[in-house]
Amino acid sequence: MSELKDKKVCVIGMGYVGLPLAAVCAKKGYAVTGFDTDKAKLEIIAQGKSPFHEKFLEDLLPQVKINVTSDPAGIKDHDIYLICVPTPVDEEHNPDLKYVILASESVAQNMKKGALVVLESTVNPGVSEEAVAPIFEKAGYVIGQDVFISHCPERVNPGDPKWNVSNIPRVVGSFDEKGLVMTKEFYESVVDAEIMPMDSIREAEAVKIMENSFRDINIAFVNEMAMSFARMDIDITNVIRGASTKPYAFMAHNPGCGVGGHCIPVDPYYMIQKGKENNFEHKFLSSARLINDGMADYTVELLQDRMNEAGKAVKGSKVGVLGISYKGNVGDLRESPALRIIEKIKVLEPELLTYDPYIPEFSTVRNLDEILSKSEAIVIVTDHKEFKNIPVEDFVKNGIKVIIDGRNCLDKKAIRETGIIYAGIGR
Ligand SMILES: NC(=O)c1ccc[n+]([C@@H]2O[C@H](COP(=O)([O-])OP(=O)(O)OC[C@H]3O[C@@H](n4cnc5c(N)ncnc54)[C@H](O)[C@@H]3O)[C@@H](O)[C@H]2O)c1
Repeated sequence: MSELKDKKVCVIGMGYVGLPLAAVCAKKGYAVTGFDTDKAKLEIIAQGKSPFHEKFLEDLLPQVKINVTSDPAGIKDHDIYLICVPTPVDEEHNPDLKYVILASESVAQNMKKGALVVLESTVNPGVSEEAVAPIFEKAGYVIGQDVFISHCPERVNPGDPKWNVSNIPRVVGSFDEKGLVMTKEFYESVVDAEIMPMDSIREAEAVKIMENSFRDINIAFVNEMAMSFARMDIDITNVIRGASTKPYAFMAHNPGCGVGGHCIPVDPYYMIQKGKENNFEHKFLSSARLINDGMADYTVELLQDRMNEAGKAVKGSKVGVLGISYKGNVGDLRESPALRIIEKIKVLEPELLTYDPYIPEFSTVRNLDEILSKSEAIVIVTDHKEFKNIPVEDFVKNGIKVIIDGRNCLDKKAIRETGIIYAGIGR
């Protein structure tokens, strides 16, 4: 193992995935270079700070040394390259592989023979073979001899207090046996959890797409049930609690006002597109995307209906949106349903206020007290702990008439007892 630790690791892309990984590699004793095109981000990391709020990282960064650079020359001659760059979709939901291609080119132009290159970014099965490998072959390297290329999909869940890059099990796939052994050995030296080798690099790619599509589909299913049950005055949160007493073959997922982040609303499109190329239509994945994206409309319709019930129009009323980030207790805006919900509410011409303690620059008020005191209706979009803990009396004393709880995180019964009109997603 000590021989392994003498190796130099270069992480390409110092974001939510790359930075924790770089920090853990450094903690385990590797000399680590962090390469990114975003100089402002690198300046923060160079000071031992995290550019985003993540407790695990904030604790770890001051203890480790990561040499950061935006100069491609700075990534020369490393032994192991870990590519952690974005894999978004364009406006038509087509996979956009430009970051993976540019990062692979940077590595191919600067690596020495014998290097291990691992793609951690989420991609559909086939990308390592069709997009990554040709870049190295074009640069004159023979795969399995001059360069070893693998895929180890990242599973990190930002903001998760229990699971982080050092304790989440991994799967690895490679082009050849030697690459697979090198990759497994490396991850075993960094991650304190099982590293499972897959039979092929495609299988490793497929694992991640399957996991995230599974989540999107299950959320879509529960959203569909929520909207239907709501018409029958059935509270889905109680139904889920009931169904969860079954000790097998049921896994609870929660309905909500939309799915966000860089993964769940994006990754299924990589598979949908790949299916199309193979003359296969992913009806299930496509329906899930439609249902989950439609939750923003459903939430705004709830607001309109309940405002009408309170004898008010949304137009001209004071509506406060609580939460802009895509999930609780993080400041990540990517693909956040709040962005769609806010745009849709704006069309109805209320006096709109927004507040997110984790993204103050997108807030129109300074604090929670201010938004509560200025709103007649509240729409909870993100279940930040600060919102879940709002005492019911605070809604009453500020004269709130309507609450739309897009995350089912408030006490429905206690709120309704005060006379405030409350609607959750399916409750
Ligand atoms: N965020 C998550 O929770 C999560 C979890 C698992 C997997 N993933 C996957 O991991 C990948 C990275 O996601 P992320 O959330 O870390 O993204 P991110 O946007 O937080 O970070 C990516 C970083 O890569 C940099 N970058 C872009 N092009 C580059 C290039 N050519 N060379 C060097 N740096 C470059 C960007 O400046 C950015 O700092 C994606 O494929 C994503 O789907 C993300």
